Amino acid sequence: MTSDEKVTTVALRGRKGGRKIAAVTAYDVAFAALADDAGVDVILVGDSAGMVLQGHSSTIPVTIDEIAYHTRAVMRGVRRAHVVADMPFMSYQASVEDGMRAAGRLMKEGGAEAVKIEGGVEVVDLVARLTRAGVPVMGHVGLTPQSVHQLGGFKVQGRTDVGAQEIRDGALALADAGAYAIVVESVPRALGAAVTQGISVPTIGIGAGRACDGQVLVMHDLLGLQPAWKPRFVRRYAELGAAAQAAFAAFAADVEAGRFPSDDESF
Ligand code: KIV
Repeated sequence: MTSDEKVTTVALRGRKGGRKIAAVTAYDVAFAALADDAGVDVILVGDSAGMVLQGHSSTIPVTIDEIAYHTRAVMRGVRRAHVVADMPFMSYQASVEDGMRAAGRLMKEGGAEAVKIEGGVEVVDLVARLTRAGVPVMGHVGLTPQSVHQLGGFKVQGRTDVGAQEIRDGALALADAGAYAIVVESVPRALGAAVTQGISVPTIGIGAGRACDGQVLVMHDLLGLQPAWKPRFVRRYAELGAAAQAAFAAFAADVEAGRFPSDDESF
């Protein structure tokens, strides 16, 4: 049961260990409004836009301008959900000052209510500075897609003791630095559970098992917009890709056969 009350960072923190948090990505007003009306708690304007909207093989090319643009569109469709904008690759890695300015742009130009930053202990100085400046930060540990070339591909992380400890330490450091929630991506479910138990703020999992305090999926995966792509951690709730293709084919056939428009559809 969802209420009409605006979802805030304070409300989300209050859901640690309680009612699970549902999050999806969205990049435009139409889908943001649909997700918001459906009662989704968090809309993430993810840099996955680089892959699902732009067709790149990674999130690396995405720019601050692009995330600000998509965030503005999303904000126009949302009444209740909490909206988070992703900090693109190299908008924060070079210095804390860069990160402060990038986050400021996403909030001032995009209207974002929070920003998401990939990384563990290496980004805690930035997280602390942003939090002190009034910018809510969502962390992101485990598989951090902006580091795809460092990681050798989009692979499950934390399979070794050392790797798992690094992820747990990172999540703890992020929470201590002021992050209000942390995305945990592509880790074994036992590690997802351990990270969740080890910190005082909600975890939002993607391929991290059901123990997390919430779950996030990329909109295109959840809706089946790219039918050929079905990783193990995705559950498809619709087959909109197939439905759209059938609709386009029916439209093209009607046009070619002179069945569209009819007299009723003409002036
Ligand atoms: O960019 C994105 O969509 C994300 C989610 C996968 C968490 O970071």
